[in-house]
Amino acid sequence: MINSRVATMPAAPQRAFASDNAAGAHPAVLDALLEANEGHALAYGSDRWTEEAHARFRDLFGPASEPFLVLNGTGANVMALATMVHPAECVVCTDWAHIAVDEAGAPERALGAKLLTLPSPGAKLVPEQLTALAHLQGVQHHAQPGVVSITQSTELGTLYTADEVAALCDTAHRMGMLVHLDGARIANATAALGGTHAALRSFTVDAGVDVVSFGGTKAGLMGGEAVVYLDPALATRAKYVRKMVNQLPSKMRFVAAQFNALLHDDLWIRGAQQANGTAEYMYEQTRSIPGVSYDHAPQVNSLFPVLPAEAIAPLCEWCFFWDWDVSRNQVRWMTAWDTTTDDVDRFVAGVRHLLG
Ligand SMILES: Cc1ncc(COP(=O)(O)O)c(C=O)c1O
Repeated sequence: MINSRVATMPAAPQRAFASDNAAGAHPAVLDALLEANEGHALAYGSDRWTEEAHARFRDLFGPASEPFLVLNGTGANVMALATMVHPAECVVCTDWAHIAVDEAGAPERALGAKLLTLPSPGAKLVPEQLTALAHLQGVQHHAQPGVVSITQSTELGTLYTADEVAALCDTAHRMGMLVHLDGARIANATAALGGTHAALRSFTVDAGVDVVSFGGTKAGLMGGEAVVYLDPALATRAKYVRKMVNQLPSKMRFVAAQFNALLHDDLWIRGAQQANGTAEYMYEQTRSIPGVSYDHAPQVNSLFPVLPAEAIAPLCEWCFFWDWDVSRNQVRWMTAWDTTTDDVDRFVAGVRHLLG
């Protein structure tokens, strides 16, 4: 039945639902790059664009925060963790964490530290999982839990509330651990939790997070992230570590100029609202289509529908997306800052057509 409908699929959306990494850069970001391209500027961050970007980050996170611009998300995480972990310590994270699953072992290699992954069906940690590690503390045979790394929004598109982050930070700090937040999708989390600077601060500075990896690429940059030390005492060796882990861009003005465009007038939040909003719209438009089922509604910009097995390949060929859990025919549809309701409407029309 499905096979006979493949030949008559309607027009595919302009943008697919593969990943927010598949989206281009925002036009304002490209304009900023062109503007920054005029003339010469001193390298390695001694330029006016970097100074402005630092001021913008301090505006967001408070005057004591210490921002460092870097090239990519894996590098941001490695740099952040490398300044937080001491010898014979481990980094505690979920078994979904990007640092544990999708960074090709970079953190372990660069830090020389074990990642202690804890099971987490929703890609979130709870304080009880930290207190359960107390038996490791002080025992010379065990890597000592030194840092907790959480992801916001998570690899499964879930969110920590500000209170949940605060509770984790409180427990971690009482146990002598530091807290890192992988914010590759911090824009989506901020948008989902209120869309204001206060919302951002509620689950970072106010909650007690020590160091944030602030994502720019998924939010609309061509490429660029930042490591922001909310506890400035941890930043004392950061500039050397950034260089050591290959994250010091010589022409830093181009990373900075992109961030200046993204942070201006909250473009990063507005883009994430667009991504989250179109994901929600997609969920509403597809949840009642026979054959499509969801475990839960999206909280940010990713959906994880279960589809009839025979529909996945043709749908994917028509408009690309990734498999998620092949054992249960679950796939991932992800929106981005530039996804439109027209893209969603066209995609939904294709799903309806194929599933009858
Ligand atoms: C949760 C998370 N952290 C970090 C990253 C950054 O990865 P990259 O090194 O590809 O910029 C990603 C990218 O997919 C991610 O999803």
